[in-house]
This record gives sequence, structure tokens and C-alpha cells, in this order.
Amino acid sequence: MTATQPKPRQPELKTSLPGPKSAAIIERDKQHLSTSYMRPYPFVPDHGEGVWLTDADGNTMLDFFAGIAVTTTGHAHPHVVKAVQDAVGKFTHVCLTDYPQEITTSLAERMLKHVEKPGEKWRVFFGNSGAEAVEAAVKLARNHTGRSHVISTMGSFHGRTYGAITLTGSKTKYKRGFGPLLPAVSHVPYPNPFRPPLGSTPETCGQAVIDHIENLFVGVIPADEVAAIIVEPMQGEGGYIVPPADFLPKLRQLCDKHGIMLIFDEVQAGMGRTGKMFSFQHFDVQPDMITVAKGIASGLPISCLLAKESVMTWPVGSHGSTFGGNPVAAAAAHATLDLLEGQVKHDGCGDSLFDNAAAVGEYIMGELKKMQADYPFLGDVRGRGLFIGMEFVKPDGSPDGGLRDRASYRMFEKGLLNLDCGEAVIRISPPLILTREEAATGLKIMREVLEELR
Ligand SMILES: Cc1ncc(COP(=O)(O)O)c(C=O)c1O
Repeated sequence: MTATQPKPRQPELKTSLPGPKSAAIIERDKQHLSTSYMRPYPFVPDHGEGVWLTDADGNTMLDFFAGIAVTTTGHAHPHVVKAVQDAVGKFTHVCLTDYPQEITTSLAERMLKHVEKPGEKWRVFFGNSGAEAVEAAVKLARNHTGRSHVISTMGSFHGRTYGAITLTGSKTKYKRGFGPLLPAVSHVPYPNPFRPPLGSTPETCGQAVIDHIENLFVGVIPADEVAAIIVEPMQGEGGYIVPPADFLPKLRQLCDKHGIMLIFDEVQAGMGRTGKMFSFQHFDVQPDMITVAKGIASGLPISCLLAKESVMTWPVGSHGSTFGGNPVAAAAAHATLDLLEGQVKHDGCGDSLFDNAAAVGEYIMGELKKMQADYPFLGDVRGRGLFIGMEFVKPDGSPDGGLRDRASYRMFEKGLLNLDCGEAVIRISPPLILTREEAATGLKIMREVLEELR
């Protein structure tokens, strides 16, 4: 480093955690907000800049969490802020269900460029949240095929509305006491190479799940009553899991054989996080529908269902959303795409945020692999781009959720915001503008924490 270069920013902790202002807000939050909210640790964000979040007491933390993989362009990116300010001065709502608007039409066109192949036309439906996109996908699949059954995977997360929690297979707490749920939904194992299901191996787990589904079609579920199979091409909430390379192409073949719609839920892994626009693009496969939310608009609420034109056959008026495709959120999505695609450059992040996610992600993975060699309780490190999971294990190899929780909390206490997932995994899902230097700052904290836990 030369003398003229500014010193990379570091977390700055001015009070004990939580500080007095944060503690007071936490107390009011406990009094008045829904009893269902979880709080992994006592952090009360006040404002953000880039990959840094400052709490109500002025403590500044490095954000490896990004509001659960949402703020792709970091906090308050000037290009996104400007786009939102310009849009909000025009109008805040006019209802896409009734009036077409240039800003959403052009957003649809931009999104479609990332999925359409020669000779294959797609269309877009806009909603507000991931769950709303998932609900739309299932409704469309049923409507289009005239079939009712939907197959999902264990460990999956698809949202919290009734259809979406029925599909979700990650935690029973989402379902307990809320039944009855949607009928005609089944779950099959997800091919996790670190914990291969159905007596398989890391290499054969994809085929094992395919065989399992074919077996269900023989004795349990009539294949010709299955409308759709919905799957996260890389599983998020379930533990940041990358399936073996043959799984999704084989799932495509199975769906084609039985006339089943293949839905890829890209809500968490999509929008550049894995280094490509969609995580399924790491594999040689094309689905019938794609659900997108989280990273699409740097935090403004908008989601979409992308579907092949041959599939999007639901009739006029059969589905809509009052707020879906809101023009201010659409403006934020355009600005986000500008940065992701590299039409607007972010300093220090190469040609595009896709490239940055791939490069910085590879660097983090390499460093975490070194830590894995030093700390045996770090059983697995996996992912693509800035979609990375680190799994904690007991000496017998079983998941160590307790150790993971301690690690997560200590990272927070040292100024690194992070979030758990799966049984014993910490997910690394920072903004895609994270530089190598900022990544190194986070990795240093991680190593210190692992050393403490040794
Ligand atoms: C893969 C996936 N699908 C759907 C959802 C639901 O999204 P939302 O919380 O915006 O409804 C999530 C949220 O975490 C998700 O990770």
C-alpha cells in the first residue's frame, strides 16, 4: 500500500452492544411489534453506506448479511438513491394491473434478456415479495397444466404465505399450528453433496433424488397429476448448498418426460449473487419458470415471475397485484441492473458486479478453505460467488448448531454482521460491491473467532 492510499475502513465499536439508544429501541420493539420476529443479535441499524451499517449508537459494522442477500449494491448506493429520487417525484403508484408503464415494460425487457434463448420467448409478472412470486408460479403451473400436485424439496425455503410455507421444507416452526396447508404438495430430499441423502454419495446424490422421484411416480403420486417441481438451483435457507452438476439437467429431463413444469426459485441465489445473473446458469439447464425477488432492486420491494410464453397462458384478469411492479421500486431495479451488468461502474469492482461477486467470492472461498484445514470443526465450506456457507460440525461429523450460534454471535460482537442458515451453517451473503480488502477485514474477524472457539 502506498502512503497516498486511504487505510481500508474497519468496524468501529464505540459502545458495548447493544448501546443505550439501541437497547431502548429494542425494548420498544419488544413491546409493540409482532411476537413472531426473530432477532439473531441486538443490532439496531440507523444508516448505511456501501458494505457498512451504523447502529443507533454510532457503532459501525461490516455487513456480510445484506438484509438476507438483498442489498446487492450495498447501502444507499448513490446511483440507486438518485434513480429512486427521480422516480418518486414523478408518481409513486398508478397500478400496473391496469395501466402499462414504460419503467416496468423496460424492466421486463431487461430481465428477459437474461433468460431468453434464440427462438424462445418469455414473459414477466411483477409482484412485491419472494412469496408472491412463488405463489404466482404455482398458480400458473396449475392453471397451465390443469394438474394439481406440486413437488418441492426438503430444506427448501419458499416464503411464508400459505402456498409458500406448504412448499417450504426447512423448519417445522413455519408450519406448526398453522394448518391445514395447501393440499397435494410433496417433498423430496435435496441433493446435498456434504450430507448425501438416500444412502448415496456426493457424486451420486443427484441421480439418487431423480430415482426417488421416479419411484414416487410408480407407487405414490401419479406423474400425470403433477403440475410442477419447484427447486432452488442452489439452496439458500437450507444451508447454502450447491447440488452436483448433473442434478438440474436430469431434473429437466424428468420434467420433460412427464409434462411437468420446472420452476427454479432464484429469490435468494439470483441477481448476480453467485457470479452469474441466475444460479442455474452455472449448469446446462433451462427451466419453465423463474422466481426472482430479494436482490433485484437493492432493497425496494419488487419481485417477478419469469415464465416461458408457451406456459404463461392464464387468462386476462385471472392474476394481478395492486402494488406489484411499483414504479419507484422498478426504478431501483433498473439502477441495480445498471451496476450488476456494468453499464454503470462501481469503483474497485471490475467490469460488473457479476464479475466482482465471482472474483471476491473465489477469494473468500480460498481463505475459508485454509481455515477449514486449521479448524476441524469447520466441516464444510461451499458456494459460488458471494453465496457461501460454512458448516460447523461435531467431532463425529454431525451438525453443531450450538457452536455455529456462538461463532455467529462472536462475529457480531467483533463488528461482522452475519446470519445463520440450515442446522449449523453461517451464510456469507454480503453486498456484491464488497472489495477484496473489505472481504479480508471480514475474514480476519472470522479467523479470530474460530481461533477463540478452538
Ligand atoms: C429461495 C427463497 N424463496 C422465497 C423466499 C421468500 O421471499 P420473501 O421473504 O420476500 O417472501 C425466500 C426468502 O428468504 C427465499 O430465500
